[in-house]
Amino acid sequence: MTEAKLEAWLEETRSFAPSAEFSKQANAQPSIYADAAADPVAWWRTQADRLAWTTAPTKSLEWDLPNAKWFSDGMLNASYTCVDRHVEAGNGDKVAYHWVADAEGEGRTITYGELQKLVAQAANALTELGVKEGDRVAVYMPMIPEAVVAMLAVVRLGAIHSVVFAGFSAEALSSRILDSDCQFVVTADGAFRRGTPSPLKPAVDEALESCPNVKAVLVVRRTGGEVKWNEGRDYWWHDVVERQSDEHTCKSFPSEQTMFIMYTSGTTAKPKGIYHTTGGYLTHVSATHEYIFDVKPETDVCWTAADIGWITGHSYIVYGPLINGVTQVMYEGLPDSGGKDRWWKIIAENKVTILYTAPTTIRTLMKWGHEWPQGHDLSSLRLLGTVGEPINPEAWMWYREYIGGGKCPIVDTWWQTETGGILITPLPGITATKPGAAMTPFPGIDADIVDNDGNSVGNGEGGYLVITAPWPGMTRGIYGDPERFKETYWSRFPGKYFAGDGAKRDDDGDIWLLGRIDDVMNISGHRLSTTEVEHALVGHPSVAEAAVVGASDETTGQAIVAFVTLKMSAEDASEDQVIVIEELRNHVAKVIGPIAKPRQIILTPELPKTRSGKIMRRLLRDVAENRSLGDVTTLMDPTVVNMIAGLMDSDADSEE
Ligand code: WT7
Repeated sequence: MTEAKLEAWLEETRSFAPSAEFSKQANAQPSIYADAAADPVAWWRTQADRLAWTTAPTKSLEWDLPNAKWFSDGMLNASYTCVDRHVEAGNGDKVAYHWVADAEGEGRTITYGELQKLVAQAANALTELGVKEGDRVAVYMPMIPEAVVAMLAVVRLGAIHSVVFAGFSAEALSSRILDSDCQFVVTADGAFRRGTPSPLKPAVDEALESCPNVKAVLVVRRTGGEVKWNEGRDYWWHDVVERQSDEHTCKSFPSEQTMFIMYTSGTTAKPKGIYHTTGGYLTHVSATHEYIFDVKPETDVCWTAADIGWITGHSYIVYGPLINGVTQVMYEGLPDSGGKDRWWKIIAENKVTILYTAPTTIRTLMKWGHEWPQGHDLSSLRLLGTVGEPINPEAWMWYREYIGGGKCPIVDTWWQTETGGILITPLPGITATKPGAAMTPFPGIDADIVDNDGNSVGNGEGGYLVITAPWPGMTRGIYGDPERFKETYWSRFPGKYFAGDGAKRDDDGDIWLLGRIDDVMNISGHRLSTTEVEHALVGHPSVAEAAVVGASDETTGQAIVAFVTLKMSAEDASEDQVIVIEELRNHVAKVIGPIAKPRQIILTPELPKTRSGKIMRRLLRDVAENRSLGDVTTLMDPTVVNMIAGLMDSDADSEE
């Protein structure tokens, strides 16, 4: 497909109906919505039957706002539900993970039977090190199978894992360890990135200087080489885990047993320890995984290209897919470890059928050019998913055409660390999809878009996204801070969960996410979303990526400042910067209207992103307004910020 054709498609095509063929075989049939709506709590109770309860719950929801309990008198073991019961059902030889290493040709295949033994050994080892029910265990690991094994072993003991993304700094790690008082850490000596070892253990050592309560550190040897050792505190995984018995009889725990904590950034500098419990969370992630990704455990190979250090990895690499007994790909490396077509090789070699990733990654792959996927057989793919931020229609169409071969449904899934699992999404085979829209609440989910006073907005209008009834996967709170939990999520619109996202309903009533509400701008009293302007910019043929912020302006309240990376090289761009900038400003004015014309456009070779790949708009706003930068510990590359601030200074001269 040519670029011109792609543009024409974007003009003409507003919606893609599901194919009859897909609809016929889909796990979710249209009646699912009415069934769930008739009695959502009862519907979720039937979904809970997918777990291996040792005591089936008689209770479903107990709701004392903002505190929810789901299936509270039920008893189960999360790790048993994910692994052992598949082996007991005779599926021990089924592949759980095709683990693909950073280096090409390296990797390891792990069956459910092998996973059961590994988890049992790890559970025995953790017990020997002193881990008991309710203890917090920090997991600071690269994308290696031991990370999954560690998580499952921790929850098997009724303990709580707090996985900290391995890209976080020592300081970020120590603040998370301290906040939830973790007494154990599981880590690795290092990780591989494009063939180069990058050490992890030194960050743990540094972090632990301020964490006196940590009793034991279990270290996987991944990269080899010298490691500073703290006798009596540090233990090699291969010494302690591998000599354990590969049998472990597990106890059952109540449904509301806390399973994990996941830190996420809020509006203040201090990250929030979002915690999740067992029965409701597992029900939610397995049900959404089955229906949204239409998984057929017999034949599908799912690849969630995310890191275990984020909620996406927890819900759709570990818990949801394992409960559903599917085969997955788990990948250690970067998208271009071994070349810019590495992803496409992985898909072809492993016959991946379902691919789930983030818009930012899709745009990166798009930027590299479609000749990279084109050389590979991607015909095994039958469904694509996206998550993490609003996807611009151009990236959506590229994903559909070049990766999905024009035939795969795309599910744009909206959710948050706090929601545990997906809440707003199309259902493949049922929902007609639109490039850029997350479409409809999942069955059993009640969502609304409200105005400032909490009243529902009509079709064609925008407002705040709220969830109006409790759902099983919802966070049970901020660890150690119930007040902040209530205040952040349940106070803005009493009785409703405030997601912090702007959204609109289109004329058909379908939901489009517009980005965080703190990113909604007010220009001379006109409300504009940063996303809208970004979409416009990215729609220009020379733009690769754009981030837009509302900077305060004496005359107009806020004014638009856009940070733009071009498809051409930085050198080429610097030749005719002024022309490009003027053209882009006019382009935005043309697409949205003169009110949306950015006051300033800053060309930059890269945008500052969090380690999970989200553009740091808050930080760009600070740069745009020359404020101090605050906490940049979640940034991928802090030098990008300084570089952009530098560009701002030089750009000030050329301002009109
Ligand atoms: C925020 C939550 C959910 C796993 C990854 C992110 C944004 C997420 C979408 C989507 C538009 C989305 C929202 C949300 N977001 N998915 N499909 N369309 N925006 O988890 O780090 O907790 O971030 O990501 O703004 O509030 P998270």
